[in-house]
Amino acid sequence: MEEGKLKDKVVVVTGSSRGIGRAIAEACAAAGAHVVIGSRSEEAVRRAVSEMQAKGYSAGGIPCDVSKPADLERLLRHTLETWQRIDVWVNNAGLSGGMRPLEEIPSEEIGAIIDTNIKGVLEGCRQVMPIFRKQGKGILINISGLGGKGEPAEFSTVYAASKAAVTSLTKSIARDAASSETRGCPTCWTPWRCRPPSSAGR
Ligand SMILES: NC(=O)c1ccc[n+]([C@@H]2O[C@H](COP(=O)([O-])OP(=O)(O)OC[C@H]3O[C@@H](n4cnc5c(N)ncnc54)[C@H](OP(=O)(O)O)[C@@H]3O)[C@@H](O)[C@H]2O)c1
Repeated sequence: MEEGKLKDKVVVVTGSSRGIGRAIAEACAAAGAHVVIGSRSEEAVRRAVSEMQAKGYSAGGIPCDVSKPADLERLLRHTLETWQRIDVWVNNAGLSGGMRPLEEIPSEEIGAIIDTNIKGVLEGCRQVMPIFRKQGKGILINISGLGGKGEPAEFSTVYAASKAAVTSLTKSIARDAASSETRGCPTCWTPWRCRPPSSAGR
């Protein structure tokens, strides 16, 4: 990644103790950004932060379950107290639920996927956009996925519906931001199927 653009930028990535979120955080840190990571497990966050610091990166983080608005508020406050600003916020945390027919997925699991993939992203956007407005700028990235374009997805009904919602809500937020004076830049990324090295063997 090009060092110039991310040097000294403050980048927050949710769900970044492993997987794609961790890869995004590491790539930004390697390009000179200060990264703040979060995931549900306190131990996983601690391990990820110390591994990144051992590589010489500027990294910190706290536990944050995106399905809990108060946790997102803590992550946001922690970042502002540490760095006084947020340049990039990545709503990455997501649950897939595996590939199964809808009727085999228990209701509680559907709830967890919706709470993480849709409500967690909406809440992250809801909380960070006022900060961007105050700063006059900021970049918001929501991670989409299979089904994100509204296409049918085999044995992934709940996940695909949640990612279609992520694409839709990102477009609406981008439209609203374009009509305000915020130089916010909401966008949606859809990673191709991948298994980053830190997820190997899970
Ligand atoms: N892998 C792919 O092929 C692929 C393709 C397209 C899109 N995506 C999307 O990319 C994103 C990352 O996927 P991944 O494959 O890297 O996932 P992963 O390897 O399962 O890692 C998920 C990360 O999110 C955290 N997490 C899970 N639920 C959370 C919650 N409620 N609050 C906060 N953190 C949470 C996990 O840590 P804890 O368990 O400690 O919380 C972990 O750090 C997801 O949005 C996914 O839908 C993935």
